[in-house]
Amino acid sequence: MEALTLISPHFRRFTAPSPLRSLFRRSISLKAQLSTGSSRKSGAKEFPIAGMEEAFMGFITGRKKATEVAHSVWKNIIQKGDTVIDATCGNGYDTLALLAMVAGESGRGCVYGMDIQQEALDNTSALLEISVEENKRKLVKLLKLCHSKMEDIVQNDNSVRLVVFNLGYLPGGDKAILTTPGTTLAALQAAGRVLGSGGLISVMVYVGHPGGRDELESIQGFASGLPVESWASFKLEMLNRPTGPVLILIFKK
Ligand SMILES: C[S@@+](CC[C@H](N)C(=O)[O-])C[C@H]1O[C@@H](n2cnc3c(N)ncnc32)[C@H](O)[C@@H]1O
Repeated sequence: MEALTLISPHFRRFTAPSPLRSLFRRSISLKAQLSTGSSRKSGAKEFPIAGMEEAFMGFITGRKKATEVAHSVWKNIIQKGDTVIDATCGNGYDTLALLAMVAGESGRGCVYGMDIQQEALDNTSALLEISVEENKRKLVKLLKLCHSKMEDIVQNDNSVRLVVFNLGYLPGGDKAILTTPGTTLAALQAAGRVLGSGGLISVMVYVGHPGGRDELESIQGFASGLPVESWASFKLEMLNRPTGPVLILIFKK
């Protein structure tokens, strides 16, 4: 049988039978499109996606954290100039990462950062100040607000590309002030309404603290009940680390 031999960093040596040739050619051509920034009309990027392999393999082999997988997924959903929401800005690390993803040459883009604690908003503001120049910093709007009220601030016009939740308490802060299933659920429903088609809700859930497991169950109930025609929801967790963080991804088709 006629065969095609591929040697690349991804395939050390692989001999494909001829019916698979066109598939490999398509995969290679999509890789080339991605590296030149070409994408589908909907805004979603073609597969395979640059950087994802490293993030997932890093997670599977214990070299990368679930948060790094989440950031890698966001990078592939967000386009420069997008509007995104950090629903729990805490110490600002996610807000900062999101800002880098939306800010481009055009000067457009917006990150809404929400938290119920002034301390969290101050920490986020301080991190942005030392990390980013002013013209980019002004793309971030920090709000002392419960995320269940996000529609009071963000237009309900499906213009948001990504809503990020990193649940639990403020690291280094008061552990008694933390996200709760009721408001988290209301916030997820609001996020579903403000999100545009091709957008994503990303939820990092911590189950090691009291109430964390209940919160996960309520989020799973929400995510698994969404109609498959318009939503796709996923869960990433480490089975032999039962108190490790759980990443829930909810994609609006
Ligand atoms: C784990 S921290 C977030 C970490 C943050 N994403 C970062 O990169 O540093 C969780 C945050 O959620 C906030 N929070 C708790 N309940 C909230 C609510 N109902 N609405 C918005 N933020 C809330 C807490 O004050 C805390 O700062």
